[in-house]
Amino acid sequence: MKERILTGIRPTGNLHIGHYFGTVQNWVKLQDEYDMFIEIADVQALTDNFNNPEKVRENIKKLAIDLLSVGIDPSKVTLFIQSMVPQIAELTVYYSNLVTVARLYRNPTVKTEIAQKKALFGNDGESVTYGFVGYPVSQAADITCFKGKYVPVGDDQLPLIEQTREIVRKFNSIYKSNMIEPQALLTKTSRIKGLDGNEKMGKSLGNAIFLVDDDETISKKIMSALTDTKKIRANDPANPDVCMVYYYHKLVNDNNIETVCSECKKGQRGCVACKKELIAKMIEFLSPIRSKRKYYEENINEVDKILLDGANAAKKEAEKTIKEIKKDMQINYYE
Ligand code: TRP
Repeated sequence: MKERILTGIRPTGNLHIGHYFGTVQNWVKLQDEYDMFIEIADVQALTDNFNNPEKVRENIKKLAIDLLSVGIDPSKVTLFIQSMVPQIAELTVYYSNLVTVARLYRNPTVKTEIAQKKALFGNDGESVTYGFVGYPVSQAADITCFKGKYVPVGDDQLPLIEQTREIVRKFNSIYKSNMIEPQALLTKTSRIKGLDGNEKMGKSLGNAIFLVDDDETISKKIMSALTDTKKIRANDPANPDVCMVYYYHKLVNDNNIETVCSECKKGQRGCVACKKELIAKMIEFLSPIRSKRKYYEENINEVDKILLDGANAAKKEAEKTIKEIKKDMQINYYE
């Protein structure tokens, strides 16, 4: 029997190549080796966007289409929407007794996110909600509701996996249970740099190439990407290691990467020509993704069916788990 993997993603925007090369490409590989569940984490997205439900709602199908277009295969993966599996919310309530508020505030991911909120809104933390501070508990429920053994994530998510493991250990010791302590499956390249050289490509940073971008947009974005600022003339030698164009050549033009590198270093390659080559390669890379997207956009009923079937399959699994958990917690009355 294949081992179980669970991972999740918040529906807050379209996928960009940072998501693809950082995480999702790895999911596509893992789906062949594991019994994989992918959760579209709408409830978690609401912890940040509770006052903007349209944003979450409109991104559900967009995200599903993005995932299907890059090769997530519904015959191998259970793709489902979090809120359609209410057992996750139920489990979150049971787990909430096993975590102290102080521990949640110490969670490095939560801590960073609260600091970012304070920097943005300049408040003293008054607006930090119960739901937000508690989202690691809900994520622990996401994972364990499906008995996920491995969780493929980037390193920013490690504190959330650690918190899940703590909750599971506590649950097991108090309720004499034997729930699985999940392990992170770290993605080697979990963060992809932005067009401006920022360590992270992000939608809100305005430095991303989206999988839905058309040729003209891609071309404009790549033409404005950061290159070696010391290079003035086309035939000046330059340092590819500080150049975003070279960085993306490594992702989509691997076959020719040695030439790109040596020509750049020797001053035999102007930036404009180099960018043009990258634009062509990027479009070539996106082309099969685009045709799959077109298919799903034209057959949206198929997407609906995938999400409905996924939710039903996920619910079945979650029901089994909740049953066991309620028994261990001695709240299985009249069963
Ligand atoms: N917190 C994750 C993120 O922001 C998304 C997520 C929700 C998740 N539930 C999960 C990841 C369960 C792994 C496992 O990207």
